[in-house]
Amino acid sequence: MATNKLFQDLMDRLEKRTARVAIIGLGYVGLPLADTFAAKGYPVIGFDVDPHKVEMLEAGKSYIGHISSERIAKLIAGGRFTPTSDPARLADADAIVICVPTPLTEYREPDLSYIVKTGETIAKRLRRGQLVVLESTTYPGTTNQLLRPILEANGLAVGKDFFLAFSPEREDPGNPNFSTSTIPKVVGGVDSESGRLAVALYKPAVTGVVPVSSAEVAEACKILENTYRAVNIALVNELKVVFDAMGIDVWEVIAAAKTKPFGFQAFYPGPGLGGHCIPIDPFYLTWAARRYGVHTRFIELAGEVNTSMPRYVVQRVGEALNVEGKSINRSRICVLGVAYKKDVDDPRESPAFEIMELLERQGADLSYNDPHVPALPKMRHHHIRLTSSPLTEEFLTSRDCMLIVTEHKAFDFSWIAQHARLIVDTRNATAGIATPKARIVKA
Ligand SMILES: NC(=O)c1ccc[n+]([C@@H]2O[C@H](COP(=O)([O-])OP(=O)(O)OC[C@H]3O[C@@H](n4cnc5c(N)ncnc54)[C@H](O)[C@@H]3O)[C@@H](O)[C@H]2O)c1
Repeated sequence: MATNKLFQDLMDRLEKRTARVAIIGLGYVGLPLADTFAAKGYPVIGFDVDPHKVEMLEAGKSYIGHISSERIAKLIAGGRFTPTSDPARLADADAIVICVPTPLTEYREPDLSYIVKTGETIAKRLRRGQLVVLESTTYPGTTNQLLRPILEANGLAVGKDFFLAFSPEREDPGNPNFSTSTIPKVVGGVDSESGRLAVALYKPAVTGVVPVSSAEVAEACKILENTYRAVNIALVNELKVVFDAMGIDVWEVIAAAKTKPFGFQAFYPGPGLGGHCIPIDPFYLTWAARRYGVHTRFIELAGEVNTSMPRYVVQRVGEALNVEGKSINRSRICVLGVAYKKDVDDPRESPAFEIMELLERQGADLSYNDPHVPALPKMRHHHIRLTSSPLTEEFLTSRDCMLIVTEHKAFDFSWIAQHARLIVDTRNATAGIATPKARIVKA
């Protein structure tokens, strides 16, 4: 079939929403995306190498906090969503969207092994007329220089036989104001036909599609968004330390600065960066920049400031206990919130783990509570294994220090402040509590 016929056939199927969409990687990004495509009428295949996830989905159960089991059960019962761990099913799809992890290695270099494996899996059954879209966050050039040759290894060529594009995921789990379908999507094709097909794929599913001239621009756009956050968070983290030394509350400063109607966007300090994106993605660019002989000094510096925050928090805990004639050693310290951010159940890259390890190393009698994380999961770089301690009045009064790391809505901070003795607050969660019994120290 001629390329323009392949293009037109797929375009027609996308416009009529009869195109079958396969999502590879049914995690925090892939599962909501599968839901979004299915809700807009596309038949969706979900492929994941984790058989446990596939079994749960087949049984109508969700493993992601903000997607309900009822929703999954409905999609499965309606025949609109087929989870599978059989890669052969990818041949049935017209469009294949890749949402696999892109972490860092132990040496803080991009771990592209998931993209490579996924590319090889697709290449084995790639057929003419298919569209492949990479969504995983990565450095500019990955789609064209890394994924493309893997997909072309068996003789099919982009632009002639199949189509290839990049569209960054912008999921913000736990944000009640935005979901996959209400966040505009940036799309860049490896060639113009690929770009147009990818635009047509997302158009019915999301609020707005923003076409850009290439896959590289789309990749760079995502890195810019996350680097912007990492650098600005580092700035307020640094100011927190400086203002604290001056006896000034950084939170009050930001609240005041925020009243400026232009030229200022508020970012907030915290115990360190967490999650799958902001602590990781800028280093993809740092790594890629080195190959071009250029350096990313801003990013490195932001990383340095942000990664020093857990140590700063632990130092503040030590100082707060010291005022009462205590040390971290043997003090009963309870960490409130171990998820990487408010109201989510995702503990990946959470600074809580680093903080807990530092406290444990200094001899603290450690516990934690997180309504979203009943037991600490096994992490790649951390070893502490605890289960969440129930919060009771008795428990609170028996702790030397309650350390707020994640300000989940589920915590009743007024009640906690009435029963705890000392609170170290890294999130300004205790602001506005009129007459706390606890001594409150910000960190
Ligand atoms: N979580 C977020 O908030 C977020 C936001 C924006 C962008 N991203 C980016 O999206 C991508 C995915 O992140 P995530 O949070 O969904 O990760 P995740 O770990 O929650 O999910 C990834 C899924 O991929 C599966 N998987 C791994 N290798 C596979 C393979 N070879 N074939 C099929 N499935 C495979 C895993 O079993 C897992 O279910 C990453 O690049 C991340 O940086 C994540």
